Order: sequence, then structure tokens, then C-alpha cells
Amino acid sequence: MDSITNEKASEGLTVLAIETSCDETSASVLSGGTTVLSNVVYSQIESHEKFGGVVPEVASRSHLQIAPKIVSDALIQAQVGQDEIDLVAATNGPGLIGPLLVGLSIGKSLAATWDKPFIGVNHVEGHMFAVSLEHQLEPPFVILLVAGGHTQIVHVKKYGDYEVLGSTIDDAAGEAYDKVARYLGLGYPGGPIIDRLAADGDPTKVRFPRAMPGDNLNFSFSGLKTAVINYVRKNPNVEVADIAASFQEAVADVLVTKTLRAAKSVGVETVCLGGGVAANSLLRSTLSAQSADQGLSCHLPAREYCTDNAAMIAAAATWRFNNFGPSPDDVGANPSASFAASE
Ligand code: KG4
Ligand code: ZN
Repeated sequence: MDSITNEKASEGLTVLAIETSCDETSASVLSGGTTVLSNVVYSQIESHEKFGGVVPEVASRSHLQIAPKIVSDALIQAQVGQDEIDLVAATNGPGLIGPLLVGLSIGKSLAATWDKPFIGVNHVEGHMFAVSLEHQLEPPFVILLVAGGHTQIVHVKKYGDYEVLGSTIDDAAGEAYDKVARYLGLGYPGGPIIDRLAADGDPTKVRFPRAMPGDNLNFSFSGLKTAVINYVRKNPNVEVADIAASFQEAVADVLVTKTLRAAKSVGVETVCLGGGVAANSLLRSTLSAQSADQGLSCHLPAREYCTDNAAMIAAAATWRFNNFGPSPDDVGANPSASFAASE
């Protein structure tokens, strides 16, 4: 394997990264940790929406079909040849095992064929690095990571040193969006659909419960989902836009309240967002406004880097490789890889 000298690392690595942990097939070329030369994302939504959610085998087959072309497109768009790639990276967990194995196999094969180092990247750490693609961000900070598979408040003491301050005890925030949308017959994925509908709804129409279990920083969204379902059953003629807006209000309220409480509890001055739900309009505007009110600075990733994408994986790969070097040759996929244990 080529070893990357410190001199080369400080000039900036050029990384090819692959993300296939769920239902997006993505490849990106990133230079110097922040210059996105390409970020190609193919969404499999059409293949899954008739099932109302992601079907793992369908996702694996779809990744296998499309990923080689997505990788090739990312290199072509970046106008970068194999000689200019310093490092190959792929998400190796958490996620669906079949989809993870597809991206990992392609990444490891390219690295071996091109004689480049390879690194496996934790998907959740990738979401954390999305914000650093555009913002000079030095820890310590608190980041709310909210997606379809995870909801966590993390204290980033320094990169690689993470303390999970709170997590969901049942559904992830994105999962709650998807389940409510499914119940309302709105389609999949529910987050962007509810977000759009809510713009025309009245967020004060129904005051849904804000589950704040204890004084801790954990979340619970399952009761909120049930409350929405029960309300709609009892009030079948209610405007769907009002339900969307009222539901979204409750989710954003809980997420923002606990994130700011977490920042206060550990004494940091910066809060950030990451994950698919970080694309949500209300969550973004509420966190920005309330952070400013409390004298905290708030950094949000661009929407395109919130939902699954390989640019964020390349950013995490750059930091990890510069600090810890490549993964061992036998690195495999770990569907339940833990974020805090990833350092
Ligand atoms: O990060 P992501 O692409 O995949 C996971 O790692 O899970 O997140 C997908 C989740 C889905 O649950 C989707 O409904 C939600 O993010 N999402 C949103 C929005 N865009 C995507 N939720 C709320 N508002 C949005 N605008
Ligand atoms: Zn994700």
C-alpha cells in the first residue's frame, strides 16, 4: 500500500468515498477535507416507496446494479483519475448488511487494484462531519444527529472523542416522520413530504405531546406517533397540512429544547446538526433562532449534505486517515457499529 506522508496530508488528501448503508447509492471525490469535487447521489426511493419503507434485499440488488456507474460518474465529474486518488473510503456500518457489503467490496477492490490505502467509515461519524464540509468547526461542540436510523445528542470534546449525552429510547426522529407519513398515506420518505405540507398548515391546530422523559437528554417519539394516529382516527376530516405542521412543531420543540439543554449542561458555545432530519425547515430555523437567543453559535450543514451522501463520508475519512491511518486489510461491515465506540 502507498503510505501518505505528513507533507502530502497537509497539502490535502484526495479521497474517493462510497456510501451504500441504506437506500442511497453515493460516491464523492473530496480534496483537502472540504473541497467537494463531486458528490453523486442516486436515490432508490422509487424502488421502495411501493413498500412504504426500505426493503433490504431490494436495496442490496439496486446498489449492486448502480454503484459501479455512480463511482465512475463521481470520478468523471471530479475530473480526477486513479493516479490522483490518495485514499479510498467506504461506509462500513451501521446500516443494512447487504447494502454495506456492496459499497465496501467496491471500495476495497478499487483500493487493492490501484494500490491505495483503504479506510472504512462509521456512517454516523460521517453525518457528524457533514457540517465541517462548509464550516470551519473546532470542537468542543454539541451536535444533534437525527436521521431515519438514529437520534443522538453528542458532545464532541475533540474529533474522535465523543460522548453520547442522549439517544432515543424508541423510534428515531426520521422514523417517526416516516411512520406518521405512512399512516396518513403520504408516501415515503415521510420527512420531506411532511416538511413541504407543513408550510401550508397551522402548527397550533393540535398540541401534540412533547415527550421529555425525565430530566435526562433522551428522546421518545413513539407516543407522539400514536397521538397523531389517535387524533386523526377521532377527527377524520382534519386538514392533513395542519396535522403535518402540528406534528413537526412537536418534534422540533423536543429536539431543540434538549439540544440546547445539552449544550448548557456541558458548557459548550456551539451547536450543530447532522443527519437526514437536519434538512427539516422548522428544525433548522428553530435551532438557529433559539441558539442565537441563548448566545450560542449554530452551524447547519447544507441540505444536500444532510441526507445520506458520500461527501460526508469522505470528510470523516480524511480526518480519520490523517490521524489513525488506514483500516486493517480485513476490515468488514458491521451493521450495528456504534458511533461513540468508533474511535
Ligand atoms: O440520513 P438519512 O438519509 O438516512 C439515515 O441515516 O437514516 O435520513 C433519512 C431520514 C428519513 O427518515 C427522512 O424521512 C428524513 O431523514 N428526512 C427528513 C427531511 N428530509 C429527510 N425529515 C424531516 N424533514 C425533512 N426535510
Ligand atoms: Zn444516514
